[in-house]
Amino acid sequence: MTKLTKKSATSPSNIAFIKFWGKKDSKLNIPFNNSISMNLDSCLTTTTVHFMNNLKEDEIVIDCKRVDGEARERVVKILDIVRSWAKIKTKAKVSSINNFPADVGVASSASAFSALALAASSSAGLKLSKQKLSILARLGSGSASRSVIDGFSEWKKGTSNNNSYAVQIAKPSFWDLRDIVTLVSSEKKEKSSTEGHSIATSSPYFEKRQKDLVVRTKKLKKALLEKDFNTFGNLLEKEAIDLHVMAMTSVEPIFYLNSTTFAVMKALRDLRVKEIKGYYTMDAGPNIHIICRQKDADTINRVIKRVAGVKSTIINRPGLGSRLTNNHLF
Ligand code: PMV
Repeated sequence: MTKLTKKSATSPSNIAFIKFWGKKDSKLNIPFNNSISMNLDSCLTTTTVHFMNNLKEDEIVIDCKRVDGEARERVVKILDIVRSWAKIKTKAKVSSINNFPADVGVASSASAFSALALAASSSAGLKLSKQKLSILARLGSGSASRSVIDGFSEWKKGTSNNNSYAVQIAKPSFWDLRDIVTLVSSEKKEKSSTEGHSIATSSPYFEKRQKDLVVRTKKLKKALLEKDFNTFGNLLEKEAIDLHVMAMTSVEPIFYLNSTTFAVMKALRDLRVKEIKGYYTMDAGPNIHIICRQKDADTINRVIKRVAGVKSTIINRPGLGSRLTNNHLF
């Protein structure tokens, strides 16, 4: 008999240096290209899961609120996969909290589904390899596949469910970078990344970016491994702009960036003239991730916080991936 116990996991959000945008298979979340990211040590989700015999249906609570509709379906999809792997039918109680605002371009789905994958599989008595865990997290949200792995990782696009998962490029201690997450809006974004992925191929720049990515991904990985910060930063910014050009030129244009985003980008360019180097990247939202070295983080943070429209910042170091914790939520 499988032993069902209460398990909790903590998992980080991550920032994509090379982005996932567009799905080859939208059910399995198989991407068109490899992507590269760093885990954020201060943007975390903690999730507790307990498969319990007395439950009639799955009970899902996120940030203290019971969830229904699409959000619930996405969680149940992962619980169903875990149930099939563990050969059980038992329903589960799930509770999850984020320590940062959800749906504003700090990838809450990445931390959420990577935490859920570890907590749910462990609660069902499964001991999954990092590879299997990355696959399970990916089925919830593509970018979650990378949050499972410590430090810097690359999600290998693969060709099928079994070979599309993330692997480590470098440990968190490899490069003492900072990501100053700069929050410029706490509103829920108009269009989810799921909607963005579904129309990505309609952009006339889609094919061009896919071609460019072959070289860009290689170069960025090399710059990362050689700690060539300026080359790395320039590639990072090109890639961020490309993502947003694609979003803006899709069949239904998506405008994630706002005027404060552009003001922060300008402030960073001005600082670079003074040899204080921070580079920007933005995911599917207006908030800016400023990648810089430890020595410049405080100065950049001070300057950026004074830009009109900036609400707050969160300074992150490269973080660990998903791990179990005794910090149970119920
Ligand atoms: O994992 P999803 O479906 O939320 O997509 C993430 C998309 C980006 O954050 C914009 C890019 C990425 O690779 O994380």
